[in-house]
Amino acid sequence: MGQTTTAKFRRIRKLFPVTGERKRITYLNTASTGPLALPVKKALYDYYEATQYLEKSAMDADAFAALDKIRVLGAGFIGAGPDEVGFGFSTTFGLNIAAFGLPLKNGDEVLLSNIEFPANVYPWLALKERGIRVKFIKSINRQFDIQQFRKSISRKSKVLSLSSVQFFNGYKNNLDEIGAICKENGLYFVVDGIQGCGAEPIDLHKSQIDIFSSGAQKWMLSPLGTSIFYIKKNLQAKLTTPFASWLSVDWKLDFTDMFHYELPFFKSAQRFEMGTYPYAHVFATLAAFKMINSLGIGNIQRHNHNLLDILIEYIQSNHHYRVTSCLKEEHRSSILAFTCVNAEEIYGKLRRSKIVTSYREGAIRVSPHLFNNADDIKRLIAVLNSF
Ligand SMILES: Cc1ncc(COP(=O)(O)O)c(C=O)c1O
Repeated sequence: MGQTTTAKFRRIRKLFPVTGERKRITYLNTASTGPLALPVKKALYDYYEATQYLEKSAMDADAFAALDKIRVLGAGFIGAGPDEVGFGFSTTFGLNIAAFGLPLKNGDEVLLSNIEFPANVYPWLALKERGIRVKFIKSINRQFDIQQFRKSISRKSKVLSLSSVQFFNGYKNNLDEIGAICKENGLYFVVDGIQGCGAEPIDLHKSQIDIFSSGAQKWMLSPLGTSIFYIKKNLQAKLTTPFASWLSVDWKLDFTDMFHYELPFFKSAQRFEMGTYPYAHVFATLAAFKMINSLGIGNIQRHNHNLLDILIEYIQSNHHYRVTSCLKEEHRSSILAFTCVNAEEIYGKLRRSKIVTSYREGAIRVSPHLFNNADDIKRLIAVLNSF
């Protein structure tokens, strides 16, 4: 990474109060929730300051312009067109658009990995009422396995829904290869992208993904209750509208004359958005997206992987610990998990030392992001070394 880019990361770190002296916290847990940067917090505060005292309408053109910018920047993060992207409030929201919007019928089958985060399971299980069954694909070594996937496909299979990055061990799926298999077999390809979006480049068109959803509260460093979703252009008209909002139609920003029930639904992904929007969160999300965009996701990925390299080198030189993540370059992400005989005890010690990680499925999960630096990893290593 060039000097200018390194300097940019250093500057952006200063915008995160969690890295400051006052808190004395080493936050290595973006896979749970991303911390908020000062411009993001300021956007929340400024919105309420401006709208509570009649200075500014809660729903003026600025708010809708901010939503447009989120769609444009969000589309840039995932290799999509802005009219394919919508603003939502959780990963689950977009997955429900898929589960209840795709043209599925009684007797159809949905394929899921048997190690998915539950957000990508329950919306599909709810289809049982319509006679649509979930079939789980066996994972091998706690990874999604292409051969098992191929074996699981039957004439009834209509959808594969999969996370881009495994939440507990950071295994990054080869979405290009999986997307090609989906297309060969006439399957819709749905992706839960929350554990990568904002930290790992992804190209939805190239990977032939039909529907994608990602909460913005983790790697996109936005407030809780924000997300983006994607619906491939030529699928939008085929999708039924699982729920409809008064803001799924185009008011041309005129809210003075409301008894219009004849307005057509938006033709873009915006049709699936739900209003009233949380406008303060909209401005805050935009601030976070601008920050990510200023660094570039390719640079962020390199930064995060470089930090994890320091930890990997340490773990590999210490027989007490064992990496449980896959270290093949194509399957690496910004999440690394490792374990040892007393992993839970060590996790507790880290917490008491104000080093924030997660304990997931028997391993310690470390997830650095753009605001972390090598000193953070060295502080973690110092605690590991004390055992
Ligand atoms: C893979 C994965 N999907 C989804 C979620 C959360 O979903 P939602 O944004 O709907 O709360 C998480 C973590 O919280 C996750 O790790």
